[in-house]
Amino acid sequence: MNKDLRKAIIAGNWKMNKTRPEAKELLEAIKPLVANAQGKVEVVACVPFTNLETAVNTTAGSNIKIGAENVHFEKSGAFTGEISADMLTEIGVTYVVIGHSERRQYFGETDETVNKRTKAALAAGLIPIVCVGELLNEREAGITSEIVGKQVKLDLAGLTADEAKKTVIAYEPVWAIGTGKTATADQAEEVCAFIRATIASLYDQAVADAVTIQYGGSMNAKNCAELLAKPNVDGGLIGGASLKADDFNVIVQAAVNG
Ligand code: PGA
Repeated sequence: MNKDLRKAIIAGNWKMNKTRPEAKELLEAIKPLVANAQGKVEVVACVPFTNLETAVNTTAGSNIKIGAENVHFEKSGAFTGEISADMLTEIGVTYVVIGHSERRQYFGETDETVNKRTKAALAAGLIPIVCVGELLNEREAGITSEIVGKQVKLDLAGLTADEAKKTVIAYEPVWAIGTGKTATADQAEEVCAFIRATIASLYDQAVADAVTIQYGGSMNAKNCAELLAKPNVDGGLIGGASLKADDFNVIVQAAVNG
């Protein structure tokens, strides 16, 4: 379909894993494996704050981009424990995961704070990967579209068309994260297509066609090809499988060939 109109992005979300030596080792292993994706698929590793500088240095000159897993929305000041967008860009970080369901679930993240973080990230030149997705009881109640549509509208509120085009959306059904339960390729496609239609209604079709929409939630070496073959699934946000170089590479290669 219109997949050529947007960038395919495979991003690892390491969560709270890996010390600096371990991060270096994993990235050194991934680097040669994914070198052939250059110019075809954007490869990103989103890593803990403490690993960012090591990750940027280890991947310098390669086609791997580095992302953070969160960012604060204020520029600086009395916000103990927080990290600003400028602090990330200064290190050489290019992406940032925003509103992951674990942050929504355990750390009080709301659509309002997701929206503020997204704006701060874009203003600093970071590419936000904004996570949306329904809970199991919401899917069972048949309100997936309502929930995801509301998240997309609130999370992108106030973004210009240009900013929206630069924003990556990750559709991550919460019931599929870290559970080994993947959405079927058809379920993923249905919601990713719905997200694109929502963006078209907020902006226009050209903006919607330009936005990369990833699927995330137990994507792995076995199920990635089927998911990535869907017309509205432009990539993946990968948790568990991003911690093993070979598994992550299989997913990257599926995107390269898809
Ligand atoms: P998972 O995590 O691949 O381990 O399910 C995905 C995510 O949380 O981004």
